[in-house]
Amino acid sequence: MQKELVLWYEENKRDFPWRKDNDPYHVWISEIMLQQTTTDAVIPYYNRFIETYKDIRSLSLASLDDVYKLWEGLGYYRRAKHILETAKIIVEKYNGEFPDDYNEILSLKGIGTYTAGAISSISFLKPIPAVDGNVLRIISRYEMIKDNIALASTQKQINESVLKYLKDINPSSFNQGLMDLGATIC
Ligand code: ADE
Repeated sequence: MQKELVLWYEENKRDFPWRKDNDPYHVWISEIMLQQTTTDAVIPYYNRFIETYKDIRSLSLASLDDVYKLWEGLGYYRRAKHILETAKIIVEKYNGEFPDDYNEILSLKGIGTYTAGAISSISFLKPIPAVDGNVLRIISRYEMIKDNIALASTQKQINESVLKYLKDINPSSFNQGLMDLGATIC
């Protein structure tokens, strides 16, 4: 299944500006924007943001007001505050380089397990699951799991399934294949 999903993704992936490269700065900003917002709404905000702040260092020098202005209309403004705080920490603590260690990524403000898994797999090609509602739905259907997917025990089981599928496969394509399958078909 995992090989077929990756082949399907590589032929049919949706064309998004944050998929032009695997730069962790690009993946991070897009994943934060996508946390509560649809892809269609994110695209123009993402493009403006990356044009304004070309890298983490230039973002770290911005004022909160300027970042809020770029965020205006996107909602959940706490995300913008966290992004600026995190950019400053990355410059001070990691010399401007986005960390590649999962636990360090997870420790950053505004980044939970889903976003840490997405950044780790897409930018650093680490076999780490990125399980959201779409993935819970797809895997529970595929494995005919009847338990409620809102239960922590079911989510743990699904996380372990995804870990198993991630062996010997491109984790970026597999995780993003699940996202696209969930968003467009399943
Ligand atoms: N939703 C969350 N992350 C995404 C991504 N990288 N591509 C498309 N939709 C997403």
